[in-house]
Amino acid sequence: MCGIVGYIGHRDAYPVILKGLQRLEYRGYDSAGIALYDGLEIKLSKTKGKVADLELKFSQQIEPKGSLGIGHTRWATHGIPNDTNSHPHFSNSGDLVIIHNGIIENYEALKQELIKRGYHFSSDTDTEVLINLIEDIQKNNGLKLGKAVQVALNQVIGAYAIAVFDIKKPNEIVAARLGSPLAIGVGEGEFFIASDASPFLEYTNNAVYLEDEEMAIISLHNPLNIRKIKDDRLVSPYVQELKINLEQIEKGGYDHFMLKEIFEQPHAIKDTYRGRLLTDEGIIKMAGIEDHMAKFLNANRIIIVACGTSWHAGLVAEYIIEELVRVPVEVEYASEFRYRNPVIDNSDVVIAISQSGETADTLAAIKLAKEKGAFVFGVCNVVGSSISRETDAGAYTHAGPEIGVASTKAFTTQITVLTLIALRLAKAKGTISNTDFRAHLVELEMIPKKVEEVLKSETLTKEIAAIYKDVSNFLYLGRGFNFPVALEGALKLKEISYIHAEGYPAAEMKHGPIALIDENMPIAVIATKYGHYEKVVSNIQEIKSRKGKIIAVVTKGDTQVKGIADHVIEIPETIELLSPLLTTIPLQLLSYHIAVMLDKNVDQPRNLAKSVTVE
Ligand code: M6R
Repeated sequence: MCGIVGYIGHRDAYPVILKGLQRLEYRGYDSAGIALYDGLEIKLSKTKGKVADLELKFSQQIEPKGSLGIGHTRWATHGIPNDTNSHPHFSNSGDLVIIHNGIIENYEALKQELIKRGYHFSSDTDTEVLINLIEDIQKNNGLKLGKAVQVALNQVIGAYAIAVFDIKKPNEIVAARLGSPLAIGVGEGEFFIASDASPFLEYTNNAVYLEDEEMAIISLHNPLNIRKIKDDRLVSPYVQELKINLEQIEKGGYDHFMLKEIFEQPHAIKDTYRGRLLTDEGIIKMAGIEDHMAKFLNANRIIIVACGTSWHAGLVAEYIIEELVRVPVEVEYASEFRYRNPVIDNSDVVIAISQSGETADTLAAIKLAKEKGAFVFGVCNVVGSSISRETDAGAYTHAGPEIGVASTKAFTTQITVLTLIALRLAKAKGTISNTDFRAHLVELEMIPKKVEEVLKSETLTKEIAAIYKDVSNFLYLGRGFNFPVALEGALKLKEISYIHAEGYPAAEMKHGPIALIDENMPIAVIATKYGHYEKVVSNIQEIKSRKGKIIAVVTKGDTQVKGIADHVIEIPETIELLSPLLTTIPLQLLSYHIAVMLDKNVDQPRNLAKSVTVE
């Protein structure tokens, strides 16, 4: 889960790579480094810390010259974050230099072999093993860099996106991928290599995404040469025109990406249903579903696999799909599913949910489900991502780039897509009446306006944040469709503020968590006016009689909870199954403001990365 950037062309490579690394910092930020070739030698600087620390180090040590270079921002897997373990890494001769995102699983065995042959290692990384393996192969067989990389990668078990260059042939970068993303930006007389397209958007809109087990020899003097790593088969490069622009990946006046993305939700939800939700015609149109309708309608059950926030969206979908489509739904952590020999066959439909489309566990779960014969449908945000390519069919969320490590708009847009799917299937299956179907379409179309209204509670959530920012624990309670929202609220708080938080179904409180409640415990309760309202009110009473502090998310006009809770945040009335799209917003704002008040790094919380491409 690191970010990699490379450049070869006519510009100064340093500013291109540095800015690129800043954009990729969401992928990892415990150390960073850049290697530049200035026509004479490789200039390397690397450091523990952020890209800003690297920039400072460069300015103090090195004149950043050269139009060939590679850079890396790291999320440590092998070896602690320190200067030595940071990338790029040199081979023993000093001729080859590499950046790597991923894990070489058999690195220890390879390392021992190389040590026997006289190689030495200064870092604890698997990457330094790989670059020396390439060097060993190159030297012993007199091979060109591309061929040596290919032979080495055929000996490697694991995942990688790499970029390598050889000081002896400074017109070329060799890149390859297996399990970690890699995009090549194709400009006029220049190429960019990056984990996603954001580092090169201001230079070119043309990109080639490498597929798994492909490598590219990127040369200034030859056309882009892409081949299969295993059998050396040539692949003709598919150059895509990118539709995202620079503005979409910048902060646009907000202090943090997370806040920008919270406020983008009305727009993002609209983008998700645009062209799919046709209220006037009374239909939902989703190509990925229409083309595979029989698969869905004949499915004995639907299994949802995902991780983190996407798993929470899956839980919301379980409630929605079972309610509307009357088909059993199971929601699984992809990381568990992939290793537990699940009972699954070709009568199952698997829905894989992932913002990044690169999460290693979700990808592995998809592969397993496919092996067992299931039809796999993806719900992804990142267009062209590994998951979107690995699945049999799918639907994009169209939320636009999400940079903040804490997912916000990804969650609401995933729920939007999954609601559209549920409604479409219910219509096809006849499990929803025409009147209800239309009512849901109309209401879903109004959600962005209602989200806008909820966003107005920001000042109130800020005031509440100021009161509770110093607590050590938080509880989140919800029921039914809003139980997963409680889980999501707790996840948001812990990941960016480092306050311990737990989400629970409200009625489970009496089976344990109630023991935690005293005057120091704030409890966020989703107490909107639906089926379980009276029961949730009783839970609130139980908390109050134990002196807990209640922050309640209620339906506009509520008076009962208002009379008991310490704080209430109102959301507009909507259909119950759509309510998670509204109730989640104040919880996002609350965790955001608590983290800001605690002076935490909201967009890049410690130990986390946006896209978890390792197990
Ligand atoms: O890209 P994905 O949706 O597959 O990512 C899954 C999780 O890693 C992700 O949701 C993570 O839990 C977020 N940091 C939550 O805010």
